[in-house]
Amino acid sequence: MGPEHLSSRARSAQSSAIRDLLRHARRPDVISLAGGIPDPALFPIAEMQAAFAATLAESGPDALQYGLTEGLTELRQWISARSEHRDGTPASPDRMVVTTGSQQGLDLLGRVLIDPGDAIVVEDPAYIGALQSLRGHEPTLVGIPLDADGMDTAELERRLEAGLRPVLCYLNPTFQNPTGATLSLERRQHLVGLARRFDFLILEDDPYGELRYDGQGLPSMASLDVAGDDGVVVRLRSLSKVLAPGLRVGWTVGPGWLIDALIIAKQAVDLHTSTLSQHVAYQVVAQTGFLANHVERLQASYRPRRDALLAGLEQNFGDRIQVNQPVGGMFVWGRFVDPVDTTDLLSVALDQGVAFVPGDAFAVETPARDQIRLSFATEAPDRLIEATSRLAAAVETASQ
Ligand SMILES: Cc1ncc(COP(=O)(O)O)c(C=O)c1O
Repeated sequence: MGPEHLSSRARSAQSSAIRDLLRHARRPDVISLAGGIPDPALFPIAEMQAAFAATLAESGPDALQYGLTEGLTELRQWISARSEHRDGTPASPDRMVVTTGSQQGLDLLGRVLIDPGDAIVVEDPAYIGALQSLRGHEPTLVGIPLDADGMDTAELERRLEAGLRPVLCYLNPTFQNPTGATLSLERRQHLVGLARRFDFLILEDDPYGELRYDGQGLPSMASLDVAGDDGVVVRLRSLSKVLAPGLRVGWTVGPGWLIDALIIAKQAVDLHTSTLSQHVAYQVVAQTGFLANHVERLQASYRPRRDALLAGLEQNFGDRIQVNQPVGGMFVWGRFVDPVDTTDLLSVALDQGVAFVPGDAFAVETPARDQIRLSFATEAPDRLIEATSRLAAAVETASQ
């Protein structure tokens, strides 16, 4: 017995060289700008402890029992009320399914929407976890470049007019992973119009939307769409970045016909998302004002980290690196002006005690070897400044 018994799909899903190298990012001597994960010091441990205790005391039997595949009714009602209240996105409790993180929403959507060979439009570069999930369904991925205003929808329109017929467009329009870019209002409207005209769905993946550090929020893509079964926008959301990813609670909102198909697919995958997690999540979020205050705390912690990383890059690289100026999320994206191969740079950088993710890891059609993703979420401002000086030393060493 051996790996020859694996299916051809499992055999083709190899671990990447970059992922293997990034195991070293956990070394204590390494300052990691690699992970796109929340700072665990910001988890509301006391509130979670109280929520677990209250859940077991008040609804223990239900919280430990099997539950509905579509998710805990109270949680879906809270999501519905809050999403209408917060950003105008219509979300009726029967047009959503609670998922095991938004990553599962993506997996389920792939299962019910993609046949092998179907064209799928994505941003280029795009979130690795989405590429991995989508590739499992053997589609043809079409990467559309992006700039500071997100996906270049004019380029997408040209490709559609030239005959491209995607079944869906997946994108992370707000504080994108990996570039931090936010799709402008004009492009949001343009993309919804293109989806209607060329008959494809938009998967709006939005786990970072609350983590805004400057300015006013933009309307979600879903709120620019028509409500109900004729809608073209499916929205994926998550508590991972605003509460705790270990809960694995996310949700997908979309047209009824699609939600029905997702519920059937989810039944086969895990019956339902952990009832215990959903009850605890509900206990926490239903406390008046808690989530809004907690998000303010997150913003107040992440904003100076973003500023420190940008300041460190400015100090150590000046105009040798072009960086975006993200107004939210967790990432700064850089492009080296002089040729630097960031995939080769990674092992040198680890020796210097700093980790990042090379741009090519996120590339779809266009190589991004001179680009780099730097996360500011998990390190304190002074460590971020130190990381940029280590990075400069690594670039120096690599270019000798
Ligand atoms: C753009 C994007 N989508 C989805 C996810 C998955 O999040 P979760 O499954 O924890 O909700 C992540 C996690 O990093 C992400 O960056």
